[in-house]
Amino acid sequence: MDKIQVRDREFTISIPEAKILQRVSEVAQQIQHDLKDEHPLFISVLNGSFVFAADLLRALDMPCEIAFVRVASYDGMGSTGKVKQLLGLKENIEGRTVVVVEDIIDSGLTMKQMLETLRQQGPKDIRIASLLVKPGNLKVDLDIDYCCFKIPNDFIVGYGLDYDGEGRNLRNIYTVVEE
Ligand code: IMP
Ligand code: MG
Repeated sequence: MDKIQVRDREFTISIPEAKILQRVSEVAQQIQHDLKDEHPLFISVLNGSFVFAADLLRALDMPCEIAFVRVASYDGMGSTGKVKQLLGLKENIEGRTVVVVEDIIDSGLTMKQMLETLRQQGPKDIRIASLLVKPGNLKVDLDIDYCCFKIPNDFIVGYGLDYDGEGRNLRNIYTVVEE
């Protein structure tokens, strides 16, 4: 079955599990090649990146660590609108090589604010690993070091990504069928 229902919407398969795992393994090889002597700290951004982070780390054959963070949005006082705060990072990243692991970079605003917060803590190097990027929606300049797939602007679910809380457990990635 290529078509599935998540809540009130229909979705169709866009990236099958085998293709995802193949690509995750290629990206892991790239990271291993670049960072094998760095003992990097991977920072997985919850909730969406938990599946990608689990597969990515298990595809790596090198010493590394992982931490999990959340990004909380709240309305700022000024004209800038939403302010995003990074929660849960207890590790000291000063002087360390850090790889931020995201499920998807859409506008890029979440990632940009996260990088600014992390940079204040004086890491040696910060890299970005994102399962998916929607280049058509990017609103900021981001140097995305490791990206598995570039996708169109359509809404997707599965492999950690949700539609209103559901669909994270789906093994494939699915695209919404426009009504
Ligand atoms: P942005 O890059 O700041 O716009 O936000 C990225 C976040 O938006 C991701 O971490 C996801 O939680 C969410 N997101 C963006 N596009 C999708 C999608 O197609 N499906 C599910 N979540 C999405
Ligand atoms: Mg996310």
